[in-house]
Amino acid sequence: MIVSPSFLTADFTDLDSEINSIQFAKWLHFDVMDGRFVPNYTYNEEIVRRIKHISSQFFDVHLMIESPEKAISAYASAGADLITFHLEATNNNVISLIKLVKSFNIQCGISIKPNTPVEDLIPYLAELDLILIMSVEPGQGGQKYIADATEKIAFLAKYRELNQLKYKIEVDGGINLETAQIAHLAGADIVVAGSFIFGRKDRKTAIKELENA
Ligand code: DX5
Ligand code: ZN
Repeated sequence: MIVSPSFLTADFTDLDSEINSIQFAKWLHFDVMDGRFVPNYTYNEEIVRRIKHISSQFFDVHLMIESPEKAISAYASAGADLITFHLEATNNNVISLIKLVKSFNIQCGISIKPNTPVEDLIPYLAELDLILIMSVEPGQGGQKYIADATEKIAFLAKYRELNQLKYKIEVDGGINLETAQIAHLAGADIVVAGSFIFGRKDRKTAIKELENA
């Protein structure tokens, strides 16, 4: 499985070495929060631009922001390889937002919160590179995995097979060894993990454990 470490709970006063400590992961997860779509504020595209200079990982940008259409170009030019926006944040035309992301020759994902039915994604699945299932209420790290996420993963895996679609399934929130195994068994391809990795001294081993979950 691919591991996309979220450095939400990293020591921001020593960010370069924190990023260095998770260089073994193929992906790097950016939890962008605007303090409006979710209660917390984290950082903006400048962090993406800065880390692009010290990392060759795949930049997996998770926008937990209102009006994501206004931010796509900034994150694309800062170095995002994939931009995921929230279905609940788009009152504009979702298809045109997907097209906007792809117009920068990067991948596009949509994320849904725990209370959003997975069926709401059906009209867009054929256009997407990735679906991000939130297994916690977005807004902070260190929460417990919400079991309903597992059914959503299984639904998406089945739908993908039946319809020969190519989107990847990513899950974000409360990921540890046990929940990573549950998510992988249900069909997840990528797991986002913050506290499980940053809570450990030996982060390389923590990442390897999740990769083999
Ligand atoms: C929630 C964030 C977190 C973070 C991972 O908005 O998206 O899910 O990435 O945090 P942990 O792994 O600590 O739950
Ligand atoms: Zn995230």
